[in-house]
Order: sequence, then structure tokens, then C-alpha cells
Amino acid sequence: MTASPRFQTQQPAVKLYDFHPPVEDFRSAVLRGLSQSQKTISPKFLYDKRGSELFDAICELPEYYLTRTEMAILHAHAKEIAVALDRRALVELGSGSSQKIRILLHAAPQVQTYVGVDISRQHLQEACAALMADFEGLDAIAVCADYTQPLPLATIPELRDRPTIGFFPGSSIGNLEPAEVIAFLKTVAVLGDLIVGVDLKKSAAILEPAYDDAQGVSAAFALNVLTRINRELGANFDLTQFEYRAHYNEKAGRIEMAIASLCDQTVRLGDAEISFKAGETLRTEHSYKYTVNEFQLLAMEAGFQPVQVWTDKHQLFSLHHLKQM
Ligand code: AVJ
Repeated sequence: MTASPRFQTQQPAVKLYDFHPPVEDFRSAVLRGLSQSQKTISPKFLYDKRGSELFDAICELPEYYLTRTEMAILHAHAKEIAVALDRRALVELGSGSSQKIRILLHAAPQVQTYVGVDISRQHLQEACAALMADFEGLDAIAVCADYTQPLPLATIPELRDRPTIGFFPGSSIGNLEPAEVIAFLKTVAVLGDLIVGVDLKKSAAILEPAYDDAQGVSAAFALNVLTRINRELGANFDLTQFEYRAHYNEKAGRIEMAIASLCDQTVRLGDAEISFKAGETLRTEHSYKYTVNEFQLLAMEAGFQPVQVWTDKHQLFSLHHLKQM
């Protein structure tokens, strides 16, 4: 640790390692997705400024139990999780959720290094600066990178020869197909241990309202991608001619979110034309649900050993501690 003079009034600067993640071209990704037989848009495109605001609003909905349940699990088991963290450097993947990391940092004052990995540089630097201001003695390092790609962590001097532990909350892993989960876990295996949030299987009566709420925020979140395409790609989607749907496919163990066309119609996108049949869907997201056992088996296929799992008393959500086999 470096000694900082007590009269220091300015916050130490956040160290930034920028790996310049290539931004996939929005236009070509949308055109490719819309030319498939099952029209698809990657969920990562849902998060423009408005989309991120709507997602934050989803997290507060009475029907969307995930965020508050994961926070309750973090609070209830903070001491045990702090023991699991030990003195390792804590590496958060997709560090949007600074509320969650704060619960852990409060419970684990022995943690001296936090590394936030995120594709959004500005947001990440602000979050790291706020953590350094609020947690005395904490070194918060910003790594601008796409965490779904191999992580260049070995090149970061602060992490060299130091044990690390990854933190991946929110059930973001649910957006991946099971085969992609295995590939993703192998990619983040460089972190050693992992603490990962995973939404649990439950009845459609609870799941479907969580993804199609009474106030229509979930619908607005999905439909916003059409507004984004209109604005950024010069398209003319008529939002009154589409509707949002969320269905629990119990056999596949996933919520299927889509935008359905209400009529036969053709949409212009720059010089391209995209036709929809009445009832045809444009898939926006899959959100996979797992039993504790199913997720542990996937983790083992990726070379991880389940150490511990924390859940809430209603078995809505799970937080897994995995270690390298
Ligand atoms: C960000 C993937 C965890 O699947 O619960 C919520 C996304 N979409 N409501 C989820 C989402 C619509 C969310 N994840």
C-alpha cells in the first residue's frame, strides 16, 4: 500500500487500462439479425441511454424479484461471502451494479483492490472514482474491455502474482445459451474463483409477470430497440404495429422475449426493406433459469468446482461460489 498524506484533499485518480474493445457495427449486426429466418436482435443493443434507464426501472418493479432478492442474499450472507473473498483482488465483470459491490466491500474491509471491467469507459471510471471516495484505502482500477472476450488481466501490473476472485451478479449469465455459458466460464477461468448470480427455475406464474409487468416497463424496454434503430439507422418502424411478448418455455427453461408484428408489413431500414408477416416475431432475449444442480453441472463442465451456494428462503435466486478444479 502507498501511504497517502492526510492533508490530501483531492481524490487519487482512477487508474484506467483501456483495451479499446471493438464496437460491433450496429447497422451490420441489425441487418444480419433481421435477415435470419427467426429475426433476432442481440440483447446487448437494448442498452442505449434510454434502454439503460428502463432497465434500472425494471429492477425496481414489484414483479421483478431478481435484483432485490440478490441484494437480500448478499446482505444476509455478507460475512460468509467476505470469508470467501479473503484478501483477493475483487474483479467485477460488467460493473454497472455498484450497489451490489458496495455490500461486499462493506462486509470485506480486508479487500484492498477492486477491478471493474466494463465496455462503457465513462460510466466505469465514474463508478470506480465513487468507490475510491467512499471506501478508504481501496484501490479501484478501471479496465475498459469486453469481458465476453479473453481477459488480458495478466497485463495489469496491480494483478500480477495476486490471487483474484470474479464477481458476476444479476443473472446476466442467463442471457447466454447453455453452451455459451460453458465457453464464457472457461474465458473467465483466469480469475481463479468466481461468485456468480443465477436466477432459479420457478413457476410461470411468477416468471412471466417479472418479464411482462403491469406497468409495461418491460414492454417499453424491448420496444425501445425499435426506436433506437429508427433514430440511429434511419428506419421507419411504426411502434403501434408491434407488441411485446414474454413467454416461459418450461421445456427449454427460459423466458423468451420477443416483439411480434401485428400485421403484414414492410419496414425500411436505410436502403434495405424488411418484411414481417402478421404474428411473426423478432427475438430480443432469452433469459435462462437453472436449478442449483443444473448450474453446478454446467460449471463443472467448464472446469469449476462448486464450493458453496447461497439462496433466499423462497428459492427464487442463487449466488454460487465456484473455484477452479
Ligand atoms: C440483465 C439478463 C439479467 O434476464 O432478467 C429483464 C434482462 N430483460 N427484463 C434478465 C431483462 C427484461 C435481465 N438480465
